[in-house]
Amino acid sequence: MTTQNFLGKENYNISSETVSESCPSNIALIKYWGKYKDQIPANPSISYTLNHCKTNTKVEFFANESFSVQTFLAGNEEDKFAEKIEKYFRSIEQYLPWILKGKYIIKTENTFPHSSGIASSASGFGAIAKCLMSLDETFSGKKSEEESLKKASFLARLGSGSACRSLYNGLVVWGESDEIEGSSDLFAVKYSDEEIHSVFKDFNDWVLLIHEGVKSVSSTVGHGLMNTNPYAERRFQEARENFVPMKEILKSGDMNSFIKLVEHEALTLHAMMMMSDPAFILMKTGTLEVINKIWDFRRETSLPLFFTLDAGANVHLLFPNDGSEDKIKTFIESELLQHTQKNGVVKDVMKF
Ligand code: DP6
Repeated sequence: MTTQNFLGKENYNISSETVSESCPSNIALIKYWGKYKDQIPANPSISYTLNHCKTNTKVEFFANESFSVQTFLAGNEEDKFAEKIEKYFRSIEQYLPWILKGKYIIKTENTFPHSSGIASSASGFGAIAKCLMSLDETFSGKKSEEESLKKASFLARLGSGSACRSLYNGLVVWGESDEIEGSSDLFAVKYSDEEIHSVFKDFNDWVLLIHEGVKSVSSTVGHGLMNTNPYAERRFQEARENFVPMKEILKSGDMNSFIKLVEHEALTLHAMMMMSDPAFILMKTGTLEVINKIWDFRRETSLPLFFTLDAGANVHLLFPNDGSEDKIKTFIESELLQHTQKNGVVKDVMKF
């Protein structure tokens, strides 16, 4: 599949429309960190789509007015966000030829706390891309659901790379991998549910809010620093190679190997940050304390509690609903919550 397939048609009939869409956030197991021109990822990644952390977006489009974008986040007008969306819309005109032919009022809200550091760009761009595809259907005709989702994923990627994975539920792959049939650098594909052991289909992701507030280094800057990181090529290669054991693990239900691989990916992401020039560290004291407590807990109990990290200090606590979850939840409440800033935890699940 090439970019050609996503180019918009010129014959359309536009009118004013209002559309609303919702899109969840996602958490990567094999991480995307490093990219090339036009949002092409340096390596394939795979993520779980969350069930509860979502962005709900309403787009009001006023056709035939001069192009402008006004945005509201949780009811408050946000000019910075409007500028970002305006730039984004201009950048995708070749794929949606009608996009600059009107005025937009975009109202968006997250179901998770704004300050939480949970990636709102993934769910945010996912929801906007879905709204754009809804508008596109009214202007240039109905598409199959498959086609529409694929183009939404393609468009979401151009807003924020990880957003393209949020269009599908379950496990989702973005980036070309020899291991995943149909995978592409241009859009995400759903990882076949049939290839996933049941133990991975009912999982918890509890996000410990270790540090609420703005990150010292944005993801965009972090990706850029991979261009000069001497370990980058090795890292990209390792991520590609990690798809081989990941596929086997997902099929067999080998929890211990899953834990080892997922934690390794999280630590590698942060190791890359520390090896960048300039170096940066997004983990906080609380992050390290929680990681060490998780390792002690696993040594003592052999229960399947483990972690992953995104580009921030918060810890995503992962554990299956396999009968051990009550003991794990008690441990989290009594031992780990104290390392958060304000007893902050966002409880999500991945059930499919
Ligand atoms: C660490 O998708 O936020 O969460 O493409 O620049 O918008 P941009 O970056 P973004 O990067 C996410 C990085 C990550 C890993 C991942 O989600 O795979």
